[in-house]
Amino acid sequence: MRLVTLAAFIPGLLAVTIGNSDPTQNQGLIGDLLTNSSTPSTTAGFLLSAWLLHQGSALAGNNKEPVPDSCGTATPDVCCPWWPVSEDLTALFLDPATGECTEDARAAVRLGFHDAASYSKKADMAGEPTSGADGSMLLFREDSRPENNGLQSIVSKLAVLQAKHGVGAADLIQFANQHATVTCPQGPRIAFFAGRKDATQAAPPGLVPDVHDSEKNLVDLMMDKTINARDLTALLGAHSAAKQFHVDVETPEGIQIDSTPGIWDTNFYNETLQESPSPGVFRFQSDDVLSKSENMTSIWESFVGQQALWNFEYALSYTRISLLGVNNIDQLVDCSGPLPSFVQTAPGAIGRKIPKVRSVRFH
Ligand code: HEM
Repeated sequence: MRLVTLAAFIPGLLAVTIGNSDPTQNQGLIGDLLTNSSTPSTTAGFLLSAWLLHQGSALAGNNKEPVPDSCGTATPDVCCPWWPVSEDLTALFLDPATGECTEDARAAVRLGFHDAASYSKKADMAGEPTSGADGSMLLFREDSRPENNGLQSIVSKLAVLQAKHGVGAADLIQFANQHATVTCPQGPRIAFFAGRKDATQAAPPGLVPDVHDSEKNLVDLMMDKTINARDLTALLGAHSAAKQFHVDVETPEGIQIDSTPGIWDTNFYNETLQESPSPGVFRFQSDDVLSKSENMTSIWESFVGQQALWNFEYALSYTRISLLGVNNIDQLVDCSGPLPSFVQTAPGAIGRKIPKVRSVRFH
């Protein structure tokens, strides 16, 4: 039934220009969905093709599913290992006192991006070594690189979980990212697909964006990862749940990037558009220049106060991130069931004074 519905997308899929260099255009299919003419051939392949082209919704249902009966039997469901992983991650990512997400959760969101960000389309097309969402951060301890400073603790904790549960490093990093995202109140419950192949070598250096780089270099670097202006704008909203520890040594460690760092909300978009940061809030130079970028400002403004729209767009854009450098997308399996349930409200935030910000003007 679902495949019949998806067949309606096919003309749209074919109409998209693959591999263009225009940051306002969809960047098309990636991995085996691009290079193997017999794909997509599975339900996962069809769904992920559509989502990569921004068709349909990459949000999973709102609720965590019960452990399948087959888990613990001789013929367990392929997703069974992710339920106990999910239990352990909840202990790390959820602050029971406030109902908000923790420092480990924020680091896991950043880690998912940094592992995948080592993908380069140019290198891939030239047949040169490239990386992507392949677990190399964990397997080759790339958290020792300066651009990954701050990720050491979460990488060590996930390495323990990988050994304990015997799951792949590449999948674990992306599962942890999506688990952390939905643990933050209002964070989207993005469909999770398992089955990535783990890295056999470390990622080439120099592919993670630098906070002090120019707008042009940042956009070019992200385009080389097939991330266009719309995807990048949606993804940067993850800084809604961010703090800075290593950017400005004059600023106290752990200062937040919007007024509500434990909540996955759109305050970040509004606050970044203001002339100066709210009291007690730090602004990344990269967010500042990109929010004023020709191709991004109107998209940036469109997310202000639009939680559902942003979550919907973020889910599609993060799905692309989570598949960078993956060359068996058609063979992945939907294991969204063990992800925690979506949290609509932030119990700890009730009654808390949030710094007031001036509303932006819309064009
Ligand atoms: C232009 C692209 C980006 C740049 C330049 C950038 C830069 C940074 C920097 C400098 C930090 C602070 C690190 C520290 O001081 O410890 C940070 C934190 C963070 N970033 Fe990004 N980032 C980018 C894109 C993204 C994306 C796409 C995501 C997720 C999808 C993301 C998620 C996060 C999170 C969650 C944190 C907070 C980590 C924590 O609190 O421990 N970033 N980012």
